[in-house]
Amino acid sequence: MSILIETDLPHPGFFRGKVRDSYALGDKLLMIATDRISAFDVVLPCGIPDKGLFLNKLSAFWFERTASVAPNHLVELIADSRQLDAHLPPGTGYSHPAYLAARSMLVKKAERIPVECVVRGYLSGSAWAEYRQRGTACGLPLPQGLKESQLLPQSIFTPTTKAESGHDLPLSPEEMKQLVGEALAQELEEKSLAIYRHAHEYAQSRGIIIADTKMEFGLVDGQVILIDELLTPDSSRFWDASQFAAGRPQPSFDKQPVRDWLIQSGWNQEPPAPMLPPEVIEATAERYREAYLRLTGKGL
Ligand SMILES: Nc1ncnc2c1ncn2[C@@H]1O[C@H](COP(=O)(O)OP(=O)(O)O)[C@@H](O)[C@H]1O
Ligand SMILES: [Mg+2]
Repeated sequence: MSILIETDLPHPGFFRGKVRDSYALGDKLLMIATDRISAFDVVLPCGIPDKGLFLNKLSAFWFERTASVAPNHLVELIADSRQLDAHLPPGTGYSHPAYLAARSMLVKKAERIPVECVVRGYLSGSAWAEYRQRGTACGLPLPQGLKESQLLPQSIFTPTTKAESGHDLPLSPEEMKQLVGEALAQELEEKSLAIYRHAHEYAQSRGIIIADTKMEFGLVDGQVILIDELLTPDSSRFWDASQFAAGRPQPSFDKQPVRDWLIQSGWNQEPPAPMLPPEVIEATAERYREAYLRLTGKGL
């Protein structure tokens, strides 16, 4: 087990997201998934051991599996230090450590489309809260009498803004069209639903329900491609299929226990976030590991 909170490689093309550190290399990006964890859009002061490693490998797994459904930005999953050294020269006589290489992926640099493409197959989280109050999910009408966590009659596309800081806001179909244009809005919806359906079916065969997920897309040479991460516990709700029952919240493989602990701690959700207790860190690390092993069916 190892832990990596931040990379500090001297490089002019460096930029930092909440979880990933990226290095711009011409028309490519070298993205390193760190062990940082965010909740309620705030990065926590502690890392989750090996989280970046599982996120990186799980995203690559899905990019390969879904390439026939929609093109994506993956160029290569970095296999070892030598391969990382080739892209990001570390200086003579020095080699990047294995824990960095294991968290690295080379991708095509894209012009980001500023939308979080969310697909929901089940009624949970903020969609359930809205449905209880108003009978809709992200403004979309739903049949009456649905229970919490229930499978929706059909999966729904509920995009949000991608806020530079703070919280993402829901986009109505009309706002979505205004933001990206009608043709692109439709393409993003179709691609997002197709990826979700494909992944949902596969995951179910591995005993995991993907309740919902978030994707990002970008443009490369005028073509729409999937970017960022794909179908990880950070971007999705994963449920254990064997324990699933509608009518209540589901135990999850994602970071729900972190959110639960933060809520009961009384934290006001403004930075700085409190430190997680060791048992919550350990339980979360175990969840990321388990989700990866179950979905891919392989060790590292
Ligand atoms: N292929 C790509 N081209 C350009 N930007 C990308 C690409 N893939 C991901 N990104 C961006 O890189 C960042 C990844 O880091 P992350 O920690 O996920 O950031 P965030 O805090 O925005 O979620 C995101 O801002 C994402 O939009
Ligand atoms: Mg992100």
